[in-house]
Amino acid sequence: MDEMTSSMAANDLQKELLKAVKGLKGQVVNRDSLSAGIDWSKKHASAAGPLNSDRKTKEEMLKKVHRDMANCQLCPLGRTRKNLVFGDGNPEARIVFVGEAPGADEDEQGLPFVGRAGQLLTDIIVKGMKLERKNVYICNILKCRPPGNRNPLPDEISKCEPFLKRQLQIISPEVICALGTFAAKTLLKTDVPISVLRGRFHLYEGIKLMPTYHPAYLLRNPSAKKQVWEDVQMIMKEIKL
Ligand code: URA
Repeated sequence: MDEMTSSMAANDLQKELLKAVKGLKGQVVNRDSLSAGIDWSKKHASAAGPLNSDRKTKEEMLKKVHRDMANCQLCPLGRTRKNLVFGDGNPEARIVFVGEAPGADEDEQGLPFVGRAGQLLTDIIVKGMKLERKNVYICNILKCRPPGNRNPLPDEISKCEPFLKRQLQIISPEVICALGTFAAKTLLKTDVPISVLRGRFHLYEGIKLMPTYHPAYLLRNPSAKKQVWEDVQMIMKEIKL
């Protein structure tokens, strides 16, 4: 082997090793970020008022969960994602919207609900609820895009769900709005269809949860907007908006 060939081989070996180490790191997640460390009795810790220091703590705690899962390879979606889509918004939000999984636009940008369905969700928040999008929190059941936007698989959900639980426990919103079948069924541990679940509050770890239709469903079935508006109005009434 001449010098150039052996240096190329060393380079390839180094790249392979780096890839393997990254993969291994992704298999090891910090236990603190998983459900094992969750104490739901500590939710609403900020009920006395959103102190700046408290806000910082929630922000920092969310950042830590994000860091802990940044290289996640717990399910095969870790190999196909462009970007992990952790969640976005105000750590002190009174309402958290939980969708299904990132699509192509979200995978590209690393942000939730930035495509067509995202625009509709933004309209619901801004035009309907008269809130700023940056003042709510938006995330998904899965943090990585399923190829071709197929439905999330049970194994993917069970690997990813502990991170969502941690996010929700840290934020401790007054209301969670579960967008669509997967979010509602995953959070409420039920197989009851979304058409039956929607329209009334359920409880998720003591937090009021309103299931409603997914914005992508509304794009295909605009007549369901009326029901979503009813659900959103119930949320607004609940948190006195
Ligand atoms: N659909 C979702 O469920 N989540 C997104 O982030 C985008 C589209």
